[in-house]
Amino acid sequence: MSRLRLSAQCRSALVTGASAGLGLAFARALLDEGVAVWGTARDAARLSPLTGHAEFHAVELDLGVPDAAVAAFARADTAAGGFDLVVHNAGYGLFGRFAEVGDQAWEEQVRSMLLTTARLSRAAFRGMLTRRRGCLVHVSSLAVEFPLPFMSGYNVAKAGLAALGESLMAEARGTGVSVVDFRPGDYRTGFNTAMQGRRNPGADPVERRVWERLEATLAAAPAPERAARDLLRAVARGRSGVVRSGSFFQARIAPALASVAPSSWRRAAEARYFHLG
Ligand SMILES: NC(=O)c1ccc[n+]([C@@H]2O[C@H](COP(=O)([O-])OP(=O)(O)OC[C@H]3O[C@@H](n4cnc5c(N)ncnc54)[C@H](OP(=O)(O)O)[C@@H]3O)[C@@H](O)[C@H]2O)c1
Repeated sequence: MSRLRLSAQCRSALVTGASAGLGLAFARALLDEGVAVWGTARDAARLSPLTGHAEFHAVELDLGVPDAAVAAFARADTAAGGFDLVVHNAGYGLFGRFAEVGDQAWEEQVRSMLLTTARLSRAAFRGMLTRRRGCLVHVSSLAVEFPLPFMSGYNVAKAGLAALGESLMAEARGTGVSVVDFRPGDYRTGFNTAMQGRRNPGADPVERRVWERLEATLAAAPAPERAARDLLRAVARGRSGVVRSGSFFQARIAPALASVAPSSWRRAAEARYFHLG
């Protein structure tokens, strides 16, 4: 990737979920730009692909343990002298019908990916507003516009993050701080391998077809480096906004069609795509 000279405006960054997939690509791209990176995982040993880099700092952070996650963020933020960039990327899928997924698993997903992430965002945003500089990124998903079947908790968490992003964009006007709602389409990561819930729903033909479609789509998706390139360009622009990233169809054509077509059209197209019957 060609250099954006990002380190001139961004000396330090925190990336949650930097041990794999998109977060690992974001962390690598930022380090390549000369930005000092604090990267998180639930187990610091998982950050070994990055620990050899002199400007990388490993942080243990589990979104499932909210108070400890907030404390870990505060320690890292102090060590960095206040982050110029915070990328809330950590997340996971939970697959299963709403009627059948247990309350605990469903609520845990919304708590981790929306409520705890929002607490970390508040801490980051506060510091940035005080310094009158910085960029806060929420990695939501194109699932905000095209909800994924049998992933209701995920869709709710991501829609909530997108709404939080829009709220903060309004509050950030004129402050020197920018807020980006980064919406990836499908990217070839270990997301489906880490999926919680019913991974092999053999007994239910509709669930099986949807799962097979999710697997096939991810296998054929672009590599995470493309998302890293799009994210860094968005940060370099220094402006708040929604940024869609992914294949040309997913990130450009489908949202453009959906913005002019009735929502019944979008639902029918999705049902067809996922063979919902
Ligand atoms: N891949 C896609 O197609 C796609 C599309 C749209 C949006 N996204 C979003 O992009 C983000 C990254 O996904 P990915 O595809 O890169 O998935 P991935 O390869 O499974 O990586 C997920 C990362 O999140 C961390 N993580 C997961 N659960 C966590 C928790 N409870 N607390 C703290 N960290 C946690 C993991 O760290 P450890 O397991 O090492 O702790 C890992 O670093 C997610 O928010 C996902 O929803 C992905």
